[in-house]
Amino acid sequence: MAWWKKNLGKTAAVQEKQASQEKDETDRSEEQAESTARSSQSSAQSGIAALPENEATSHGPLLVVSGVERTFQVGGQPLHVLKGIHMQLEHQQLVMLRGRSGSGKTTLLNMIGGLDQPTRGEIWFNGLSFHKLGDGKRTMVRRKDMGFIFQAFALMPLLSAWENVELALRMAGVPRSLWKARVTEVLELVGLGKRMHHRPFELSGGEQQRVAIAKAIAHRPRLLLADEPTAELDTQMSAQIMAVFQNIIQSENVTICMTTHDPTILEVADHVYEMVDGKFV
Ligand SMILES: Nc1ncnc2c1ncn2[C@@H]1O[C@H](COP(=O)(O)OP(=O)(O)O)[C@@H](O)[C@H]1O
Ligand SMILES: [Mg+2]
Repeated sequence: MAWWKKNLGKTAAVQEKQASQEKDETDRSEEQAESTARSSQSSAQSGIAALPENEATSHGPLLVVSGVERTFQVGGQPLHVLKGIHMQLEHQQLVMLRGRSGSGKTTLLNMIGGLDQPTRGEIWFNGLSFHKLGDGKRTMVRRKDMGFIFQAFALMPLLSAWENVELALRMAGVPRSLWKARVTEVLELVGLGKRMHHRPFELSGGEQQRVAIAKAIAHRPRLLLADEPTAELDTQMSAQIMAVFQNIIQSENVTICMTTHDPTILEVADHVYEMVDGKFV
C-alpha cells in the first residue's frame, strides 16, 4: 500500500497529537521567519528575505562540478564513493543522473545541494566557490537559491496544500505580504488550483508530489534538486510530474537536476549523466 494511503487509517488520537506537533512546528518556524525578517532588515541589500524575480544574473553555467571525490570512513577503512565527478548544469536545463542503487547519485546530489562537502574537487554554484564556503554561508545560499524534492513527499500531514506551501515561504523568510499571491501562483502552476485546501491524505501520490514541487519552488530557487521524485509513482503520475518540471523550467527560470532509474523518464532530459560505481561513464 502506498504510504500516503496509510494516513487514512490513523486514529483520531494520533492525528490530534500530530496536529499539535505541527502547530508547534508552525509556531517555531514563524518565530524563525520573523527573526530572519528582522535580521534581513539590517541587510536589506542582500535581498535574502525578498522574493525577487529569478533572473539569470550570471552568463556562465549555473553549476560546475570539477574533479569531485567523496570518501567516507567506514570501520576505519576509506570507502571511495565518488571518484572524480565532472559535470555542468546550464540555466533552464533538465538534467538527470541515472545509475544503479549504491552508485553514488544521492551522495552527489547532497554535495551539489551543499548538504555535504567533497573530500576533493570543486563545486561552483552561480559563480560562487561552494566548496570553500563555511556552513553558515552555504546554508544561506541553499535556502535562497535551491529547492529540494525527495522520493517521499515530505509534506506536513495535517496541513493543507496551501498551508504546506505557505510554511515553506515562512521558513525561507519571505515577507508575509507576499505569501498569498505566491502560494496561489505556485499551486496553480503545478495544476492544483482546485485542490489548494486538501490535506495530503486527501490527495493522490502524484498530487502530493506536486504540492512538494510547489513547496520547493515557492521561494524562487535557481536550482531544484530532486532525488528519485517519481520512484513512488505510477507511469501516468510520473509523466505528470515530468510535464510540471518542463513547465516550471520555462516559467520559473529554474534548472532541475534529478536522479531516476526510469528509462521512459530519461527521454525528456536535456542531458543524462550515467553513474557507475562513483564515476560517470
Ligand atoms: N554517510 C555515509 N557513510 C558511509 N557510507 C555512505 C554514506 N553515504 C553513502 N554511503 C555509501 O555510498 C554508496 C553510494 O550511496 P548513494 O549515494 O546513496 O547511492 P545511490 O543514491 O546511487 O543509491 C553506498 O555504498 C552507501 O552505502
Ligand atoms: Mg539514492
